[in-house]
Amino acid sequence: MLKKIKKAADFIKSKIPNFNSEIGIILGSGLGKLSEEIETTAKIPYGKIPGFKTSTVKGHNGMLIYGRLGGVEVLVMDGRIHYYEGYSMKNVTFPERVMNSLGIKYLLLSNAAGGMNQNFKVGDLMIINDHINMFPENPLRGKNEEKLGPRFPAMKDVYDKELIQRAKDIAVKNNIEVKEGVYIGVQGPAYETPSEYRMYHEFKGDAVGMSTVPEAIVAHHMNMKVFGISVITDMYRPDAPEDISHEEVQEMAKMAEPKMAIIFTELVKKI
Ligand code: HPA
Repeated sequence: MLKKIKKAADFIKSKIPNFNSEIGIILGSGLGKLSEEIETTAKIPYGKIPGFKTSTVKGHNGMLIYGRLGGVEVLVMDGRIHYYEGYSMKNVTFPERVMNSLGIKYLLLSNAAGGMNQNFKVGDLMIINDHINMFPENPLRGKNEEKLGPRFPAMKDVYDKELIQRAKDIAVKNNIEVKEGVYIGVQGPAYETPSEYRMYHEFKGDAVGMSTVPEAIVAHHMNMKVFGISVITDMYRPDAPEDISHEEVQEMAKMAEPKMAIIFTELVKKI
């Protein structure tokens, strides 16, 4: 695995000889617009990078972008790799391993998620303060590379408290309302039945989605500082369950994206 990581990192460095960033960003469903705000130095399709899988999902561009956001050098994954696409957990989290090898120390994650906390509404932003892993597998299953991180990593502070506080301050300054809560990561690709939403809600989850948790676990394993934000694209209402579609999710995510873009842009300036 270490060799594979090095090969991908070397390839990226060969395309971006002046690579010098400590911040990685992953853009979720319908949240790719932030990439347009980047003063781009290089763009590499995932398919060209050794070991990277391609994103097969509509609304995920599958492009690694290097450039400046708010004047700060960032490496952005415009579109992510999901477990439900059929990839192994090792493949899903390979980009985070490569980012770490490139010297990335901060990982900012974004996603579209279904709200379960009844104080939320569609279009809200939720800062993730913890997660529940409901994926059928942990991405750290299998041989552990001690060079990357411990066999049994502690998980109390996966989401960095300082980054959370800074993001909240940014939100207040910019008049953006943010919620905070627990993200439940599920494998998908089917959305939840009303009974599943009820169960996840009773598990004390505030939002549910099909990503982020594997990436956060792997990044935390390597001691990266993780920040995550969910855009609430649909709501579970116990008395009036509604059907949702990927199109609606993307549409709602796009509407809320500008708020997320402000938080990410201001946050990278403060790192
Ligand atoms: N469930 C799971 N994933 C999602 C949802 C949801 O309600 N909304 C956006 N991604």
